[in-house]
Amino acid sequence: MIQYDNPVKIEFGAGSLKFLPRFLKGRKALLVTSSGFVNRGLVKHLLNTNPSIINIISNIQPNPTLKQVLMFREQLNYDEFEVIIALGGGSVIDIAKAFSVFNETKQIDIKKVILEGFEGLEFQTKPIIAIPTTAGTGSEVTSWGTIWDDVNKKKYSIAHSNLYCESAILDSELHVTIPKELTIQTGLDALSHSLEAIWNKNANPISELYAVSAAKMILENLPKLIKDLTNIELREKMLLASYKSGLAFSNTQTAIAHAMSYYMTLHKGIPHGIAASITLPAIFEAALLKDGVKNSLYSIFPESANPVQELIALYKELNISLDLESYKITDEVLKEIEVSLESTTRIANSIVQFSDIDFENWMVKR
Ligand SMILES: [Fe+2]
Repeated sequence: MIQYDNPVKIEFGAGSLKFLPRFLKGRKALLVTSSGFVNRGLVKHLLNTNPSIINIISNIQPNPTLKQVLMFREQLNYDEFEVIIALGGGSVIDIAKAFSVFNETKQIDIKKVILEGFEGLEFQTKPIIAIPTTAGTGSEVTSWGTIWDDVNKKKYSIAHSNLYCESAILDSELHVTIPKELTIQTGLDALSHSLEAIWNKNANPISELYAVSAAKMILENLPKLIKDLTNIELREKMLLASYKSGLAFSNTQTAIAHAMSYYMTLHKGIPHGIAASITLPAIFEAALLKDGVKNSLYSIFPESANPVQELIALYKELNISLDLESYKITDEVLKEIEVSLESTTRIANSIVQFSDIDFENWMVKR
């Protein structure tokens, strides 16, 4: 039996932002974004072309925190808007999901939801139109969002099928100005989502189809793109690859690479896309020994006898170190990461377990 579900309507292609009115249908909208888009004039353009945008929150920071969610929610009048437009990267779309949740009295305890989940709670959501401005997080097609607690060094997920966006506009024209570093980080995050959807207990032939196709596209196009950042066709290919990886892991969730990454981001300040991807070759090597996984992994590299080496070559081309010690991840830190896995839910999805990975050998080899 195969089950696959993804309800997010999309408009994909260069210039597709112009179709926003068609998605808004005249509904009163709250625009959630980060300050960069105000500075670049994009927000002004959206306000001019979409008069039903009645309020803006324009200072969302990367890695949104519990504190920020509580602060911004104070300002929101849920009677005022009917739909949320989330214009930005994964952080903006994730926090918009936290904003979308409300109940009859508009007094929902979002802190409790973030800490404990939705169980037993009666709630509704304001629909979200996501306009991702990076190609990687996949948040526009998943039903969860990540919220961080930087004080207590914790990562939370709000997750519920009601949190799927209503629609997403995937416009590669918005991506040509993404800086090189962010292009690499988000591209590697998408690669991680695709591979994590493969070494995953929840994988099925549909998610695998998307995951393998996404991984192939990223391996082929990301190295070309970082040498030609304004190439709209390459931007479009990476956006499509990111969307496909989103479709894959929206149905499987992530696995061990992400489970390990949260410690690295919280305690070592490593950006998510890097933290979630520098362990991929080592995990890949372990996953090739797993029946039921290896065929999909080999199919990403149909011409190659040594896929791990091919994967390592990608990092070389991107100039991303795979030496964990260069990120201050020593043997002791690895032990702490192993302990941290006990408090993540994502590890339970993973076919590859921590003990399957030969980190010692791996760190010598690198
Ligand atoms: Fe990720």
